[in-house]
Amino acid sequence: MPRLITLSRAARLVGVKRGALQKRIRQGELRTFEGELLLADLLQAYPQTEVEDTTMLERVEHIMENAVNKIVRPASDDQPDTDTLAARILALGQELARARQEGRRHADMVADIQQKLDELAPEAEQTQDRTFSKLKDWFTLALASTDTPADDSNILAREAFLRVMAAQVRILPSGHEFFIEGSDSILEAGLRGGLALGYGCSNGNCGKCKAKVVSGQVKKICPHDYVLSETEKGLGYILTCSNTAVTDVVLEAEEALGSRDIPQQEIDVRVRKIEQPDDRVIILHAKTPRTKRLRFLAGQYLSLKLEGLPAQDCSIASCPCDDMNLQFHIPVIPGNPFSEQLADVTRSNTVIRITGPGGDFTLNEDSPRSIVFIAVNAGFGPVKSLIEHAMALDIAENLYLYWITTPENNHYQGNLCRSWDDALDNFHYRPLEATDAHSVADLLAEIIAALDAVQELDFYVCAPAPLPGDIEALLAEGGVNAGHLRLEPVRENQAG
Ligand code: FES
Repeated sequence: MPRLITLSRAARLVGVKRGALQKRIRQGELRTFEGELLLADLLQAYPQTEVEDTTMLERVEHIMENAVNKIVRPASDDQPDTDTLAARILALGQELARARQEGRRHADMVADIQQKLDELAPEAEQTQDRTFSKLKDWFTLALASTDTPADDSNILAREAFLRVMAAQVRILPSGHEFFIEGSDSILEAGLRGGLALGYGCSNGNCGKCKAKVVSGQVKKICPHDYVLSETEKGLGYILTCSNTAVTDVVLEAEEALGSRDIPQQEIDVRVRKIEQPDDRVIILHAKTPRTKRLRFLAGQYLSLKLEGLPAQDCSIASCPCDDMNLQFHIPVIPGNPFSEQLADVTRSNTVIRITGPGGDFTLNEDSPRSIVFIAVNAGFGPVKSLIEHAMALDIAENLYLYWITTPENNHYQGNLCRSWDDALDNFHYRPLEATDAHSVADLLAEIIAALDAVQELDFYVCAPAPLPGDIEALLAEGGVNAGHLRLEPVRENQAG
């Protein structure tokens, strides 16, 4: 039987991005069967030399860990615990035993056919049955060719090793996949993998992360107060925040398909740190309580309320894969009491009430197109959130970031952008400086001219008002498909 492998596992195995495999599928170089790849095709597309490069996998993982450096792992170990390891090795052992049994059955069948052909050969010679001789010759040749099978033992061994170290979770009905390293919960690993899984408290109280196990084995990693009914247990329901995957698992689970699926929340967060890289922007780091984290989509904004001041809308600059540690890039506007007071908040632990999230400046996760991000000044905040999410999802073939600054503004996180560019082959960063609003338009025209097939790219642009209107017209003139463009103004006004 031909051996099939999921796209995510294939990408890990040969050390490339899923986007690169999807491109080869679209080009007809790799065939898929119900969403899975033929291992033989994979071997052909990625010659043994690449597969044998054992540093590749580690390199890709290292890059992802460092590049998306906001992902905060809990203090848990990266390695699965001994029970989980034992269960995975047992599952692999059972699979090996089944494969051996099947192999023996096939070998017996081949020997029987050989014997039958030998028995019938004299009779066929007498009757000069040419079809029989052709069949016998073909069978002898086919047997001889299987004496020197392609050496795929290396890739098979690596695949088995990966299965011991990380379990794969597949979510239905979306078909989204992610891996669980160590003994992380299914929910944590799903969020880190860029999925918008349904959840509430993250700690076993609300039951909103309930999901049904369709196949595979899970294990409870922490007790939970929420009580599943006997019927639910019988049907295979579990809480994803309190369970990990022991073997590869298929789950029926809820996922947010857009901003309308994200509930409105009100949370008191605490200021962890305030940075002011220059006079024009404040970077606010805030932390939610462990038991009340923020569920949001990358690129959305919140209303922030400091005591004694009107609320202010601010885009979230961090990734939903870390729902406790939030980051905001807040433009400093002279005369705006919010940014002025924030600049004076040097004490950590100041409480800010957040309400939201809102906005549709979110990633089109169904798009296979490469993505162009254009940020002007503090428009980098929500763009950063989208980039980190796109990296976690690992779908787009190429990510381009153009960060334009106007006079007196700086590329205040230019080092981070350069580190992404250095670490990821498919990430391309270009900082640009405009001398005034007109030169922003000139730079946009330059960007469009430098890109190939703009109509086949997705664009995400965030700029201070009133630029977005002009930018939309300019991009349309340059051939950008209106349906592939999402625009967002820098949130700098008081919440309405
Ligand atoms: S998220 Fe509340 S119980 Fe899992």
